[in-house]
Amino acid sequence: MSGIRPTGFLHLGNYFGAIRNYVKMQDDYECYFMLADVHSLTTHPDTKELKKNVLRVLAEHIACGLDPEKVALYCQSHLYETAELYLYLNMLAYKGELEKTPTFKDKVRQHPDNVNAGLLTYPVLMAADILIHRANYVPVGKDQEQHLEIARNYVNRFNHRYGHVFPEPFAFNFNKELIKVPSLDGKGKMSKSENQLATLFLADEDDVIRKKIMKAKTDNGPAKKNSVKPEYIENIFLLMKLVSNEEVIAKYEDGFNNCTIRYGDMKKQLAEDMVNLIAPIRNRVNAILNNEKYLEKIMKQGADKAIASAEATMQLVRNAMGLNYF
Ligand code: TRP
Repeated sequence: MSGIRPTGFLHLGNYFGAIRNYVKMQDDYECYFMLADVHSLTTHPDTKELKKNVLRVLAEHIACGLDPEKVALYCQSHLYETAELYLYLNMLAYKGELEKTPTFKDKVRQHPDNVNAGLLTYPVLMAADILIHRANYVPVGKDQEQHLEIARNYVNRFNHRYGHVFPEPFAFNFNKELIKVPSLDGKGKMSKSENQLATLFLADEDDVIRKKIMKAKTDNGPAKKNSVKPEYIENIFLLMKLVSNEEVIAKYEDGFNNCTIRYGDMKKQLAEDMVNLIAPIRNRVNAILNNEKYLEKIMKQGADKAIASAEATMQLVRNAMGLNYF
């Protein structure tokens, strides 16, 4: 089980950090992938653009290779059972624990004028999203690890108090290390909210991709053989490793070590390889978005699968808690 907030277009970080893992999981696991539209209300209360964003992100999931026949691809707001479970979990959630969650502290810093209770209990809702399917594995990036730890705390408190209902959920990744998709400005990772000119979106046109990559920070090249790469150069290599083939990467590694590297050429090559990844996805997204009836059908189908799973869990929960008077 996993989820992405539909607060904007998907970018390369979502693709390599999450969706590519989803696609690999879909043949071997019973998967629930969710658009966290309710979570997005904690920071984006204006819903004028919500439907448009939801349809786009849904199309982006499918265009990246997720098969809605194999997985349950659904919107969080369609699953009312999650709201019920969230309510019960709130009684197992301690205020102090929520207040010291780093993502909460970050959001308080970013939006000091909108510190709503939904923001504080964000991890409770996320735990409900996961536990509603009694999920074992959650393909997410490193930034979500604390939220998963909180979910495991609720599992243990619930199971201890009411009897065993939930397995402990753990982060899941196909790679040994979590993949880092660095931002093009040499600082931090790609993100929807920070510096959009340094983030590659799956919706970017070819020329936009080229322009963003050509603007990435470089220098005149190393002065000494076999020197250590500055972070902004290391980041360009990291991006190249995501999309270019091994010979290409080896050529530029050698170039760096021999001080013959030309970053202009390297970025041109990276841009073309990036276009080759993104353009087909972008074209599929646009084709899918033209067919709103199809997207509605997919959403409904996903909701039905997710609701069936959620109803079964809530029967167990209500029985375990003794909320079954007749
Ligand atoms: N908090 C996640 C994020 O910001 C999104 C999310 C909501 C989620 N519910 C989830 C992720 C359940 C995994 C499982 O990226």
